[in-house]
Amino acid sequence: MTPYADRQSRLTLSDLLNMKQTGEKITCLTAYDASFTALLEQSGIEVILIGDSLGMVIQGHDNTLPVSVEAMIYHCRCVSKARQRALLIGDLPFASYATPDQALHNAARLIQDGGVDMVKLEGNKTASIAHLTSNGIPVCGHLGLLPQSVNLLGGYKVQGRDPQQAERLLDDAQAIAEAGASLLVLECIPAELAGKISRAINIPVIGIGAGIECDGQVLVIYDLLNINSGHRPRFCKNFLEDRHSIQDAILAYQNAVKQGTFPGAEHSY
Ligand code: KIV
Repeated sequence: MTPYADRQSRLTLSDLLNMKQTGEKITCLTAYDASFTALLEQSGIEVILIGDSLGMVIQGHDNTLPVSVEAMIYHCRCVSKARQRALLIGDLPFASYATPDQALHNAARLIQDGGVDMVKLEGNKTASIAHLTSNGIPVCGHLGLLPQSVNLLGGYKVQGRDPQQAERLLDDAQAIAEAGASLLVLECIPAELAGKISRAINIPVIGIGAGIECDGQVLVIYDLLNINSGHRPRFCKNFLEDRHSIQDAILAYQNAVKQGTFPGAEHSY
C-alpha cells in the first residue's frame, strides 16, 4: 500500500515532489472523457493528462497539429467532471503559446473553462514558463520527441542519441526547472540520458519511452489497451493481454510502474 493509495483529498504538486524525494514512482495516464477518468480514479492513478494526442486517438488525425484550444477545453471539461483526486494536466496545443502573453491567455482558458490544475507545453520555452508561473499557473515541460514539431524533426524519432543533442537536452531540462516548471515529461530518449536528467533536476520527471529511471511514467490510455491502428512505438505495452477488463489492465499498469517492472529494457531505447 502506498501512502497515496487510500487518500481521499486531491494530490498536489508537493505530493509529487515528495514522491520523487522518497523514490515512490508516479503513475500518469492520458484520458479524454469522463468514463475513462472514472476508471483511472478507481485505480488510483495519480496524474491524468488530457494530451493533445487526442488529435490522433479521438479525432483521427495523422498528428497533433490540428488540435485547437477549443477542442482541448472541451475534453479537459469532460475529464474534470469525473476527477476526484488525481492532478489534471491539460496540453497547450500547437501554436497556442508562441508568445508568453498568448501562453497566459490560453493556459487561463484551460484552467478556468477546462478545470485543469496545470498546463503542459513542448520545448525550451522558458520565457512562457516563467510568465505562466509568475501568474500562478503551474507548468509541466515536455522535452525529447516533441510531437508538435514532427514536421521539423522529420518524423517520430528517438531524440538525444548523439552527445551534443544529449547535452542540449540536459541543459534545456535544467533551464525549464529554473524557469519555474513543476514537472517535466521526457519522450523517446535513451534510458541512460533520462536517468541522468531525472537525477540532475529537482522536479519530478515523467517518462514515455524514456526508461525506468524516471520518477514516473505516462502512456496514452489507448496504447495500454492495444487500441492502435497504425505504427506501435517500442515503448507501448498491451496491458489488456490476458486480462478480462479495462480496469484490470489499468491496475496492472499501475502496479508495474509502482514496482519498477515497467518499462522494461524491451520498451526502452
Ligand atoms: O499528448 C499526449 O498524450 C502527450 C503524452 C504522449 C506525453 O503529450
